[in-house]
Amino acid sequence: MSSKYKTDENLQEAFGGESKANRRYLFFADKAEKEGFTGVAKLFRAVAEAETVHARNHLNALDAIGSTKDNLMAASIGEHQEFTGMYPVFIEVAKEERNDRADRTFALANAVEKIHHGYFEAALKEVKEGKKPAEATYYVCQVCGNTVAGSAPDKCSVCGAPKERFKKID
Ligand SMILES: [Fe+2]
Ligand SMILES: [Fe+2]
Repeated sequence: MSSKYKTDENLQEAFGGESKANRRYLFFADKAEKEGFTGVAKLFRAVAEAETVHARNHLNALDAIGSTKDNLMAASIGEHQEFTGMYPVFIEVAKEERNDRADRTFALANAVEKIHHGYFEAALKEVKEGKKPAEATYYVCQVCGNTVAGSAPDKCSVCGAPKERFKKID
């Protein structure tokens, strides 16, 4: 996002930083839990929650949360950019640098962003027609992020993981 105001750029940057801190602390909390540091896990989760408050405040100060129609449009553009612009370049560079782990994680995300883009486009089309997209139960593959509406498949179409690796989203 470009803007003539430095503060808008700073709000974007702060939003990105707080969002990353939120995710990182939640992963750190899981690790602390596994290592038996339940007190540290709680601390990470509490601070992660506070970073979410900061992220939301920064985004609100940018007026970057619009109507659902606007948000679907923004989400669709974002997913599209990821699988047409960002990930293809990242994958190419990872291959050049022979970083197999990066290549794999980028390739899995790249494949799934196409699926996300499809869902957002379909929902956006209905909202534009004045309809309310139907409620579906979604399942997310915990290996690759593949997102499936309806029921969990026997085997993930993106990464091959079995049904048990799908998490139901309420
Ligand atoms: Fe996505
Ligand atoms: Fe998967």
